[in-house]
Amino acid sequence: MAYTVPKLKDFSPAALDGAVAELLSALEEESAQPGNADARKAFRDRWLARKDGILTQINELWLKAAPKDAKRDVGQRVNKLKAEVEQKVEAALEKKPAASADTSLDISLPGIRRPIGAEHPIIRTMNEIVGVFKNLGYSVAEGPVIETDYYNFEALNFPPNHPARDTQDTLFLANQETKPRREQLLLRTHTSPVQIRTMEKMRPPVRIVIPGKVHRNDPPDASHSPMFHQVEGLAVDTNITFGDLKGTLDHAMKALFGSSAKTAFRPSFFPFTEPSAEMYVSCFICGGSGKRGSDPCRPCKQTGWIEILGCGMVDPNVFEFVKHNGYDPEKVSGFAFGMGIDRIAMLKYGLDDLQLFFQGDVRFLEQFG
Ligand code: PHE
Repeated sequence: MAYTVPKLKDFSPAALDGAVAELLSALEEESAQPGNADARKAFRDRWLARKDGILTQINELWLKAAPKDAKRDVGQRVNKLKAEVEQKVEAALEKKPAASADTSLDISLPGIRRPIGAEHPIIRTMNEIVGVFKNLGYSVAEGPVIETDYYNFEALNFPPNHPARDTQDTLFLANQETKPRREQLLLRTHTSPVQIRTMEKMRPPVRIVIPGKVHRNDPPDASHSPMFHQVEGLAVDTNITFGDLKGTLDHAMKALFGSSAKTAFRPSFFPFTEPSAEMYVSCFICGGSGKRGSDPCRPCKQTGWIEILGCGMVDPNVFEFVKHNGYDPEKVSGFAFGMGIDRIAMLKYGLDDLQLFFQGDVRFLEQFG
């Protein structure tokens, strides 16, 4: 039973010795198990609290209750006892609790399970694409998402006010009207500015892939998002031909979609490549037949082909902007390509709504764990 301060009737030295011994042995016992922080505070309060602590009770029940002729003796004993109790309580509180004495730790309880994160399907697809080019000896470059007009447009051969700029639905940063145009900041609309940034830093030959986020002023719907992802590629050396471009991309598509994937090129236009092309890959959903059983194949719109990227031979006008770093358009040539990752990931995982990637719904994301 827990110790309580007894009311004394007998104030003889022998009786007082006994009462003091009993109290000290109770204190000894309680100090042996200091417990966790709450238990320690309770222990301290029980003995030392001004209001109703054991020492206060001793004052009331022993000292004040003592008959006149015993007061002097009781007073001395109580003072000594108080000093001793205070010192012992503090000493007990300073002791570190032994692990087993800490009642807050029960090692037999099951542990806390933390949900394990999974690579986001877009990042996973991005890494797969980058991995294919790494195996071909390409290195990885990155660049800023907030870009200047110079890198996003001008040095990529988009003349000022050229209609090709309109096709990019650019998001500009506000309040920049006073800056010269080439310094105005925008959210990059493609990863192509990193072509220029890389060529400014590295002399030819270069072989790089550039993964990253890009933005365009497109309202979100099942197939559009104002933020999406691209992987860009650039190879520059002496004597790089359109044949190298075709061979490299054909190999990459087979590595990504399986060895039976076929590629096709159609003429296109980009200001920074000449000639330019759009590349199609045989539909990896229907195998190129345009049909799934007796149903039409929706992802390729029954054509058997899926448009996967833009590409072309680096325009000599682009090399002019980095000529000082060894890119003389008379001496070097190169190819570039850029593909949207989000759409490839959608096709790969059979999704019909792009927004699923960006809503952060754990029930969706945990399926990729
Ligand atoms: N930057 C182009 C786009 O976003 C794609 C591209 C990259 C085309 C490189 C040609 C060469 O549409």
